Amino acid sequence: MVNMLCLGIEGTAHTFGVGIVKSDGKILSNFSKTYVPEKGGIHPRDASQFHAANARAVLDEALTQANVELKDIDLVAFSQGPGLGPVLRTASTAARALAISLDVPIIGVNHCIAHIEIGRLTENTKDPVTLYVSGGNTQVIAFDTGKYRVFGETLDIPIGNCLDVFAREAGIPHPGGPKIERLAKEGKKYIPLPYVVKGMDLSFSGLMTEAVRMTRLKKDLRDVAFSLQETAFAALVEVTERALAHTEKKEVMLTGGVAANTRLREMLQVMAKGQGAKFFVPPMELCGDQGAMIGWTGILAYKSGSKQKMDETQARQRWRTDEVEVTWREK
Ligand code: ATP
Ligand code: FE2
Repeated sequence: MVNMLCLGIEGTAHTFGVGIVKSDGKILSNFSKTYVPEKGGIHPRDASQFHAANARAVLDEALTQANVELKDIDLVAFSQGPGLGPVLRTASTAARALAISLDVPIIGVNHCIAHIEIGRLTENTKDPVTLYVSGGNTQVIAFDTGKYRVFGETLDIPIGNCLDVFAREAGIPHPGGPKIERLAKEGKKYIPLPYVVKGMDLSFSGLMTEAVRMTRLKKDLRDVAFSLQETAFAALVEVTERALAHTEKKEVMLTGGVAANTRLREMLQVMAKGQGAKFFVPPMELCGDQGAMIGWTGILAYKSGSKQKMDETQARQRWRTDEVEVTWREK
């Protein structure tokens, strides 16, 4: 088939998305809806019900925007993991139903790797060290001998979650990240906070607790926000820098929802420059969770010979980045 069309379904956490992608790399549409909890953190069952209730509308909108019909679809890809169990099951059920009714192949995609592949597509970066930072993930990833290896990751909470929980405790509405960034710009005084890098891994829960304690001690919220960002981002940049030096790669990519942060971008940019590496950030609509990244990675996997039987499509809640055989890249 010269040019195949893949329909990618994303559903691992808050977002249910459908993207339609052509095998030449053209993204025809990328539409999603995001579950927003009324209060507190994400509730997996509520999120999965939101996804199920909105699946049809999201699918229809993605088809309309791409100006294609279901019968034009040649391949269905879906986020098989990692993520929240009930949410993953909704996405995989939708994908199976579609693949069976259209009688086309189905491919389960690793969510973290999809973030990297969509960035490699649109930014034309060949072989980056990637810092993937979001509400649910914090990993430093680079390709080496057939797999995406995790060079460093959080040992407890992800950075986005750290910012969101801190914000909630400080009375700032969800999502905390953007508001903390705004506050931090007005911060002047650095308040020492726990900086934790263990080997190549990170930890943010102590930092978060201490930052919350500072707000209880009535420290200026702008200074706390500033100090929280500076401390957390310095740790992220340190691990990314060490992965870059170790792998001797020449590119750094930032992705995930926290990639929106201009201070984090600036710090990585400076580090990359110092290491003689190029720095890339995909457009924000491709940094967050969406279906196009799943569709594109599905195409890469399928074209390189990956095939899945229906009974291999169960959700994989803890599917690790480094477990995936990357058949589409040269060893
Ligand atoms: P994933 O399933 O990949 O973990 P997610 O459900 O967390 O994704 P994303 O849209 O990738 O969704 O990321 C949302 C996170 O990004 C939230 O934690 C939010 O606070 C954070 N964020 C958004 N904008 C900014 C910003 N400007 N600065 C820092 N963090 C930000
Ligand atoms: Fe994600």
